[in-house]
Amino acid sequence: MRLSRFGEKFAGRSGVVDLMSDLGEALRADPDLVFMGGGNPARVPAAEKTFRDALATLLADPDAWQRLAGAYQSPQGDPAFREALARYLQNHYGWHVGPEHIAVANGSQSAYFILYNLFAGAMPDGSVRRIHLPLVPEYIGYADAGLAPDFFSATAPAIELLEDRQFRYHVDFDRVSIDAGVGALSVSRPTNPTGNVLGTEELTRLRALAREADIPLIVDGAYGEPFPGITFADATPHWDEDTVLTLSLSKLGLPGVRTGIVIAAEPIIQAFASASTIISLAAGNLGPVLATRLLEDGTLDRLGSGVLRPFYRSRCEETLGGLHRELEGLPWRVHRADGAFFLWLWFEDLPVPSSELYRRLKARGLLAIPGERFFIGIDPAWDHARQCLRLSYAQDPAAVARGLRLLGEELRRLYDTGGR
Ligand SMILES: Cc1ncc(COP(=O)(O)O)c(C=O)c1O
Repeated sequence: MRLSRFGEKFAGRSGVVDLMSDLGEALRADPDLVFMGGGNPARVPAAEKTFRDALATLLADPDAWQRLAGAYQSPQGDPAFREALARYLQNHYGWHVGPEHIAVANGSQSAYFILYNLFAGAMPDGSVRRIHLPLVPEYIGYADAGLAPDFFSATAPAIELLEDRQFRYHVDFDRVSIDAGVGALSVSRPTNPTGNVLGTEELTRLRALAREADIPLIVDGAYGEPFPGITFADATPHWDEDTVLTLSLSKLGLPGVRTGIVIAAEPIIQAFASASTIISLAAGNLGPVLATRLLEDGTLDRLGSGVLRPFYRSRCEETLGGLHRELEGLPWRVHRADGAFFLWLWFEDLPVPSSELYRRLKARGLLAIPGERFFIGIDPAWDHARQCLRLSYAQDPAAVARGLRLLGEELRRLYDTGGR
């Protein structure tokens, strides 16, 4: 098989593909592994019932079938959904947004592939642009989305130490430099992997920097507001025509439905819809049709604030309690958990790199994600980048408790023996 450059890049080894296949392989070999690795949302019975009931109602309506499965939607996605979402965003946040500012994609992951490559890579004038991540660690799924090499640059965070073994990353504005080679700024809020929610002031400063450079600020709201609303701090979203906001139905509990949403200025939406049509012809209908109903009757709001947020907050607190018990006496810290469903741990002076910790934990029966992978676009020699681990607490509490015990045992052994 002779592969093109594209073929070599996308068929070849990449961080996220390697990691996903390693996780899959490990689970196949030992289904009893405690899985604190992936980005799957928790099974939340009340949410599942809401979706099943809404789907049953839709299936009982013969007229809905055509919208649900019998037609390709327009390139931008289901017009009724885009209108319902625009109305919702106008009413809730006062944004000047219409259906012309919204496009639907088959998952926000594929939306990022298009968005990033619209703004970065080879430019028509022969120059090259890249995506700048003003705060890393960032979502691992971005790392291989560029068609061009050296696709990302990033700014390492400022670290603030907090009480009770917590810490927090901030955008280090003294070191964010945006030159003519930057095509867009990109942040996730809440951030996967850390659970950070960038404050309003940080977001405002990033918007100002982007506007000054005449580039968009892309904000990934996959875990945030208005849905699924897995946030435990003020995470009011912002949108204007200089911002590209992406949303997803996945973390509501619908990752299999593959629905991503892009909210942006009209020319960006037009460009996005053209590219999306070439790649996918049309986006799936199920997510938009379901979400239209749930947005219009207020169910999505109630689900976020009344079910998902308390559910994940209580899991988060329980997991933090378990960490304090199991890691007592060890040099550990946890990023302040303001949202999403991960805890981001930092083990100062860890005797081995976190990729080795990952291997040792896997051998003991716990799958977590080593931190190195999330430090996209910065100097890999930074010690801190090898001392972090991402834990998901979306699994059932008994499995999480078992995982934390295994983590404590392995860390004690590592620090006692210096990793030998
Ligand atoms: C921050 C972030 N953005 C985007 C995605 C992609 O989600 P989806 O393609 O399911 O919408 C994920 C998935 O884990 C994520 O964590």
